[in-house]
Amino acid sequence: MTVRMDDNGQHVIDSAPGQNIAKTPTSIGKPIGYAMPRDIVAEVHEGSLEAGPTRLEYTRKAFQMIPKLDKPRILDVGCGEGGPTLELATLSDGEVIGLDVHQPSLERLAKKIEAAGLSGRVHVVKGSLLAMDFPDESFDIIWSEGSIHVIGFERGLDEWRRFIKPEGFLVVHEATWPRREPPQELQAHWQGRYRGIRTASEYIGAIPTHGYELVGHFALPEKVWWIEYFCPLKERIRVLRVRHADDGGALAVLDREEREIEMFQRYPGWYGSAFFAMQKVPKVFPCSPGPSA
Ligand SMILES: C[S@@+](CC[C@H](N)C(=O)[O-])C[C@H]1O[C@@H](n2cnc3c(N)ncnc32)[C@H](O)[C@@H]1O
Repeated sequence: MTVRMDDNGQHVIDSAPGQNIAKTPTSIGKPIGYAMPRDIVAEVHEGSLEAGPTRLEYTRKAFQMIPKLDKPRILDVGCGEGGPTLELATLSDGEVIGLDVHQPSLERLAKKIEAAGLSGRVHVVKGSLLAMDFPDESFDIIWSEGSIHVIGFERGLDEWRRFIKPEGFLVVHEATWPRREPPQELQAHWQGRYRGIRTASEYIGAIPTHGYELVGHFALPEKVWWIEYFCPLKERIRVLRVRHADDGGALAVLDREEREIEMFQRYPGWYGSAFFAMQKVPKVFPCSPGPSA
């Protein structure tokens, strides 16, 4: 099971990542997905997922892994409220498009773009990363922080590849196991959040077969998760418990979110994430006479 957003920006529980989901429960057979009655997940994460200065330091470090490009065209997939989107605009002299399905986040980002005087070269697009509709080879860089898990690592690499110019780049920040054989309880917990989580070397091993070459990678220190995610989340849950004290459904969602924090506390050293910078290269098929685009 995983939680993603549908085309209307509603959180939807999937039974398998990237699966085609019915938006309402069906009376024929088991429902494969359902929209939450009220978007409590969005309320929980409002603001708590916004990138702060600690995390943006790593956005900058990741950007330095790729060569300097002249006025690159960048697509920030699952941009949210756009911390990385705006950082990318500052780091480059190019055009940046932030794509997300969550309208309130896009509205907040649009205000920030205007306030920063970046309306000429930073734009927002409402759309799903599961079905992107851009011309082929239209971006020098596709950037994804915390969003490729929605589609799955391999499928994201495959489906997004055609939008990247030849020799362009894909940069991904995703959750990792810091080492092999995570504790069983934690593994079971992540099965419910992100089935595709694996070690950095396992992600890296998958890259060449999807038409990319690894340019660089690095892991983020665990403290970033505390500073940028779990501390604000803890405070948010505390406030929402008071606001929704009479709403059993909302409290159940808050319990689930709280469990995530408990897991993090119980298993120090077992939460990780890493940036991977990849360059698009011609795909080589094992039995083909040579590389193809
Ligand atoms: C963990 S947040 C990351 C936000 C931003 N990239 C950052 O690093 O601050 C994941 C983002 O993916 C977006 N998202 C989830 N499902 C999506 C979908 N199907 N299409 C587009 N965006 C989606 C969410 O709305 C959210 O903004």
